[in-house]
Amino acid sequence: MALWGGRFEEETNREVAKYTESISFDRRLFRHDIAGSIAHVHMLARQNIIPQATSEAIERELLKIRDRMEKGDFEYSIELEDIHMHIESALIGVLGAEGARVHSARSRNDQVAVDVRLYLRDQIDLLLEKVEFFQKILVERAETDKRAIMPGFTHLQHAQVVLFAHHLLAYVEMFGRDAERLRDCRVRLNRMPLGAGAIAGSTLPIDRASVAEELHFAEVTRNSMDSVADRDFALELLSDLAIFGIHISRLSEDIILWSSQEFDFVELSDDYCTGSSLMPQKKNPDVAELSRGKSARLTGDLMTLLTMCKGLPLTYNRDLQEDKLAIFDALDTATAILTVYPGMIAKMKIKADHMRARAADPYLMATDMAEELVRLGVPFRTAHSRVGSLVKYCRENNTSPEKLTLAQMRESIPEATEAFLNLFDPEASVAKRESEGGTGFRSVERQIAYWKERLA
Ligand code: ARG
Repeated sequence: MALWGGRFEEETNREVAKYTESISFDRRLFRHDIAGSIAHVHMLARQNIIPQATSEAIERELLKIRDRMEKGDFEYSIELEDIHMHIESALIGVLGAEGARVHSARSRNDQVAVDVRLYLRDQIDLLLEKVEFFQKILVERAETDKRAIMPGFTHLQHAQVVLFAHHLLAYVEMFGRDAERLRDCRVRLNRMPLGAGAIAGSTLPIDRASVAEELHFAEVTRNSMDSVADRDFALELLSDLAIFGIHISRLSEDIILWSSQEFDFVELSDDYCTGSSLMPQKKNPDVAELSRGKSARLTGDLMTLLTMCKGLPLTYNRDLQEDKLAIFDALDTATAILTVYPGMIAKMKIKADHMRARAADPYLMATDMAEELVRLGVPFRTAHSRVGSLVKYCRENNTSPEKLTLAQMRESIPEATEAFLNLFDPEASVAKRESEGGTGFRSVERQIAYWKERLA
């Protein structure tokens, strides 16, 4: 009979047991479940709810169970539903009546809430390490190739000359915000729900603050009904991971474009690509493509959890058991991405000469010409239209701005000076963009220095 079987006359139908179990996926919470139980029995003993000796015996057995689970030397069965029941029933198996005291003033509703919070707190710490390591790799890459220039794109059309490092550092910013969001999520997650019981708190003289302290929670939750119903912390985490996935997907798309024959800006290392089973010449950017694909899972996991919580009446409902599938999938997906991506970026070769050749497109300097006119006192709109007519002139006459004589240039831009003939050097164009946050060499150096210090 199940631990809750007192009022039941029939055993659970086998198909129903299979349908309702969560042990197949929540067993990964075992360490955190045991940590929660140990802090709980410590408190029960301090409060004289159970004898000190019982608390000690329970702790000793819990640690043994943890070791067995750690070693894979523990038998799981769907009859016991979930990780909480497995651990409690193993405890009772050894300690009998003494073990049966562990669940005093506790319900699986507050137990699962504390377990998941403890687990996610550790997972966030691991993710933060990985995100920051990845940022370091991107910054190193930016520094190694800090002179490389490339065309910058808007609308996927040549826009202005930029440093390749500047482009990479844009992603360092995105992943920096991802890390900020994870840290912020950790603050609201770090509140202790145990003691809420099933819904309404306990009639026993529990001391929640001391449990929070032992488990390193910053505070206790204030409302027992909210404590067992709330999954905001998981929603926040999955939103953060979905946004992270969007960033990875955009970076992946850039890398896929860059490694195409059309762009030909980078070459991925062979060990991060695969070939085609049919076309012998192919070398495909699979890691980038799969990461773009996997980011869809992150968005999907967030949608799953949002939809699950929508319309749920207070408080705990069994629907919430399914939260773990979305949460674990998102964590595993983000972790897998962050495990392979740094190596791919570190080993990616850039084709600096080819990128530079593409950046030498004189039309990329059209804005520089307009700004040169502004410097001479021409209102920007007028300057824009002058340069626009120059572009039109060149297209119509099948020529290019850097080939024009000053006289030809003056047909479109009467204010043009000698200096206008020398505006087409891509390095010079980059060097002039030293406004804060711009792509200028010194501005990029400053960004690199900032991140090196931040990530040290
Ligand atoms: N396995 C359950 C879950 O993950 C634990 C809480 C179950 N509570 C209950 N009253 N059935 O949500």
